[in-house]
Amino acid sequence: MPGSRRNFLEAAMPISLALGLPNVTAAQSKSSTPSLPRQSQALVELFGLKYPIFQAGFGTSTTVPLAAAISNAGAMGAIAGLRIESAKDTVQKLKAATNRPFYVNILLALQAQNPPAILPAVLEGGAQVIQFSWGLPAREAIAMIRSNGAKFGMQVTSKESARMALDLGADYLVCQGTEAGGHVQAHRGLFETLPLVLEEARGKPVIAAGGIGDGLGIAKALSAGAGAAMLGTRFLATVESAAHPDYKRSLIGAKAADTALTMCFQDGWPAAHRVLRNQTFVNWEAAGCPPPGKRPGEGDAVATRPNGSKLLRYANQSPMVGYEGRIVECSLYAGQSVEMVKDIPAAADLVKRLWDEYGAAGGRKRKA
Ligand SMILES: Cc1cc2nc3c(=O)[nH]c(=O)nc-3n(C[C@H](O)[C@H](O)[C@H](O)COP(=O)(O)O)c2cc1C
Repeated sequence: MPGSRRNFLEAAMPISLALGLPNVTAAQSKSSTPSLPRQSQALVELFGLKYPIFQAGFGTSTTVPLAAAISNAGAMGAIAGLRIESAKDTVQKLKAATNRPFYVNILLALQAQNPPAILPAVLEGGAQVIQFSWGLPAREAIAMIRSNGAKFGMQVTSKESARMALDLGADYLVCQGTEAGGHVQAHRGLFETLPLVLEEARGKPVIAAGGIGDGLGIAKALSAGAGAAMLGTRFLATVESAAHPDYKRSLIGAKAADTALTMCFQDGWPAAHRVLRNQTFVNWEAAGCPPPGKRPGEGDAVATRPNGSKLLRYANQSPMVGYEGRIVECSLYAGQSVEMVKDIPAAADLVKRLWDEYGAAGGRKRKA
């Protein structure tokens, strides 16, 4: 991996500025129409959204119906974890299901090449926003995006990685904090990193991700200067996501302290991740967090996929609808935002609820 790319992933955060959420800097309209904070208003206008709410690209648990429902409700839907064979078709299906904006997430660390082979396919399918995480896109990838008139964003975790993304011309940044569910690129908490990324961004839109699961969390993120909030775990627990029903049910009622940032489920991708502390995790922790080869129950097939292949205990794949077996012993990715998961609503209802909660939390509503 070239040095600059490694630096991007490993860029350490300077010691944070003292925290304290700035007041909402709402651009008070002179008319009676209320408005969003200024930076958020700019972001919704940039993308043509109604609400400054983004779905996170949570891998293969994203679905076309989920992204379409979120986009049609006025937020930013997302599709991720695409396979090269079906990527173009999936994006075309999503375009047919919504005429509103959505983005395609490409996780660069898991791509064999850079530019990723999947990029031309999703652009041909009509993707207008590409969001990269876990790496820096090659300049050829950016040229491809630009020649299709598309925008791109990048997940960053520090001032330094923000600078690298901006130097590449990113249209927006996603600032991830360690509260996040799934694989965690971040090294610091969201509200520690966000001010540093905002300072570096100098007006470029920054979206806050990690631990946000309700309207109050969205209000806090916007109040701290983010243009929008990105929610993963909360949207995972919806009717339309492809997460296994037992996985969704296990999210309900869990507390932030029921999650752990760990290397437990590292098979397939040895990177840090936040999961629910399930039986597999608890047994592994009790054994002293041993490395591969020495883990309790290693080699157990805990679930079977619809195609008959086995999901092993420490695999990095979370269980999806159609899997059978001991689902709750698989890797159950969840952010600290799991604390806000109380039910499994339809995604469009959730968007509306989040917006109502945002208003009740003191956020400023505008006419949708
Ligand atoms: C089940 C799951 C799968 C994820 N997969 C991806 C992924 O494929 N690509 C990515 O960039 N981030 C992925 N993430 C991380 C999200 O992009 C985001 O940072 C995170 O969900 C935000 O924290 P929250 O879950 O507390 O909202 C995943 C998160 C979850 C919960």
